[in-house]
Amino acid sequence: MTYSDDVLGRARVGETPELKAYYERLAGHEAGALWTVANEIEPWYPQPKSVPTHWSYADLRPLVLESLDLVKADDAGRRVVMLVNPGRKDISAAVGMLYTGLQVMGPGESMTAHRHQAAALRFVVEGQGAWTVVDGQKLKVGPRDFAITPNWTWHEHGNESDDAPVIWQDGLDIPLVNAHDAGFYEVHPNHYQERGQVVNSSLLTYGAGELRPYGFADGWTKPYSPLFAYPWEQAYPALLNAARATDGSPYDGVILEYSNPLTGGSVMPTLGAHLQMLRPGEATQAHRHTGSVIYNVAKGSGHSVIAGRRFDWTEGDIFCVPSWAWHEHANASAGDDAVLFSFNDFPVMRSLAFWREEAYLDNDGHQPTN
Ligand SMILES: [Fe+2]
Ligand SMILES: [Fe+2]
Repeated sequence: MTYSDDVLGRARVGETPELKAYYERLAGHEAGALWTVANEIEPWYPQPKSVPTHWSYADLRPLVLESLDLVKADDAGRRVVMLVNPGRKDISAAVGMLYTGLQVMGPGESMTAHRHQAAALRFVVEGQGAWTVVDGQKLKVGPRDFAITPNWTWHEHGNESDDAPVIWQDGLDIPLVNAHDAGFYEVHPNHYQERGQVVNSSLLTYGAGELRPYGFADGWTKPYSPLFAYPWEQAYPALLNAARATDGSPYDGVILEYSNPLTGGSVMPTLGAHLQMLRPGEATQAHRHTGSVIYNVAKGSGHSVIAGRRFDWTEGDIFCVPSWAWHEHANASAGDDAVLFSFNDFPVMRSLAFWREEAYLDNDGHQPTN
């Protein structure tokens, strides 16, 4: 369906000199006629301003590293090269209401603590020695590890390697928070948090999957996961195991959600995250749904077709799927698996009853590419 002048129930008022004068008089009272914008503000189906976009890690990496010499981390607040959707420069979004960027920390560098209303997550792209202190808890994270910084938790980061930088991908819901005029930001009064003695304590307490603390560490009532770090060394074998037992999803291959171990729900109220494997030679079928997704290629290479455009990707690349865009993924290799990390706003879509999903039924489930 498209906008049409002859569909009953849709605005189809022509412009006359009388109406033009009337609109001007309304505007003089901070008012307007709904029928002049109704078709635009209530489209037949989602009309995202974001466009499918691919960011090459090979292209961006030298630019990210260049920032190490150009700005001090604490002067910049955070030393991050943000990825901006060509259609959403107005709100610094990578897609939809999601923000993302590549943060770099030099050897031995550390930053002071802050907190904000936006929820954050990290996916480590390269470098050993990254650490973050979230809510007083020190986490060490390595390549392909996933970690969360729930909203309004104090956090500070650093890199304790003495010879190599760390680059990790940040994902936040900043545009969502700002769309609701709910943004707050604070720097820590003492610059640094008091730290618990045990590193990775949430992982040690809550990281055993189906085995939960019993009779201790209970009473967790916060609306986010008590587990703050999800190591690759646990996530990747979980994918391999699932691939032995299931065919996975026709649209995503073998896909697992990083979840709150106490509820089985998303890691945070506004952001969800997945890890998915495309087996050697696998090409998924196309589907579309509300909600926006940002992918990071954790392993391997392949391509995705998004709204009819083909994007080839390889390790470290980032790409996005706007809401309601048809998308399908394919592994380029006949011998190796490809793994995609992704994060999304699905928890928002679901909690607000905005979720909708459909399969692409034509052409054996594959979009024509242009
Ligand atoms: Fe932050
Ligand atoms: Fe999807």
